[in-house]
Amino acid sequence: MTWLITGGAGYIGSHVVTSMTDAGERVVVVDDLSGGDAARVPEGVPLERGTVLDRPFLDRVLREHGVRGIVHLAAKKAVGESVERPLFYYEQNVTGLQVLLGAAVEADVRRFVFSSSASVYGTPDVELVTEETPCLPLSPYGETKLAGEWLVRAAGRAHGIATACLRYFNVAGTAAPELADTGVFNLVPMVFQRLDAGLPPLVFGDDYATPDGTCVRDYIHVADIADAHLAVAHRLDERAAAGEAGDLTLNVGRGEGVSVREMIDLIGEVTGLDVTPDVVERRPGDPAKVVASSERISAELGWKARHDVRSMIASAWESRVHPAE
Ligand code: WQD
Repeated sequence: MTWLITGGAGYIGSHVVTSMTDAGERVVVVDDLSGGDAARVPEGVPLERGTVLDRPFLDRVLREHGVRGIVHLAAKKAVGESVERPLFYYEQNVTGLQVLLGAAVEADVRRFVFSSSASVYGTPDVELVTEETPCLPLSPYGETKLAGEWLVRAAGRAHGIATACLRYFNVAGTAAPELADTGVFNLVPMVFQRLDAGLPPLVFGDDYATPDGTCVRDYIHVADIADAHLAVAHRLDERAAAGEAGDLTLNVGRGEGVSVREMIDLIGEVTGLDVTPDVVERRPGDPAKVVASSERISAELGWKARHDVRSMIASAWESRVHPAE
């Protein structure tokens, strides 16, 4: 059987493609290349260039490739941009999903994995975020992910599709240089960009109610995220083969909090550079602490993160595009 991976030319999607093909799965990628890069798609994996908003295109891809399962990662993910362009975000992330689910139902696809995000929780006031923690997203981006989950679960129930929603925490690192994150939207690439420019890293506020005053997050290696997809795909396979549907909603994190200051110190250790930061104003909307409980995913799938924060930083540093070269 073939798995369709939408967004498979993106940073996370291409890692999922690699994990799945390494495990012997047959995959086809759909990507409109608006954020993705065709060079990330491994040789031998067909890339169908197009958008998930294009139903006739999806119908053809599902039919021609004999798709039996879908991992849907294609989406827009810049929180700030989503505040400025909510209509665009809802169209891409929610309407696109709805069109894709329509094509999946029509083609009798019985396995569907949806790429969700810890941003569905907003600012959870708990030590460890479980899947039962209330979802109160703070941005249109987070809203589109939560609405997407509702849509996936409802469609799964109505049409007998085994579904899973994976809520990623803070993804970092790379499994191979050619798959690296080229966007500068998150802490690690933002610190690297400052260091490359000969500037001190920025800390957005050190007066939070956390041990060192800086925000605490749950960083997870993209290779571990990819392996979680493979594990959940196998679980959905078992369910579909048994004629079961059902839905799974799972945090994908390490269950370990790391502060911004600790991350920057580790970056200093890995790179050997002076990383003495400038502490600036808080960034609006940043919660003090967001750390996953990873109990459910480990109980459901036997999945556990294998990589630590140092390996995320080292792999990202080694594979970054050097501005001077
Ligand atoms: C981490 C911490 C910053 C840069 C976002 C989305 C979330 C998910 C992941 C997609 C924060 C601090 C950052 C810098 C800093 N995306 N920081 N100096 O905000 O936890 O999560 O990306 O699904 O939905 O909201 O990640 O990497 O932007 O920030 O001090 O130069 O680092 O304030 O505390 P965040 P991030």
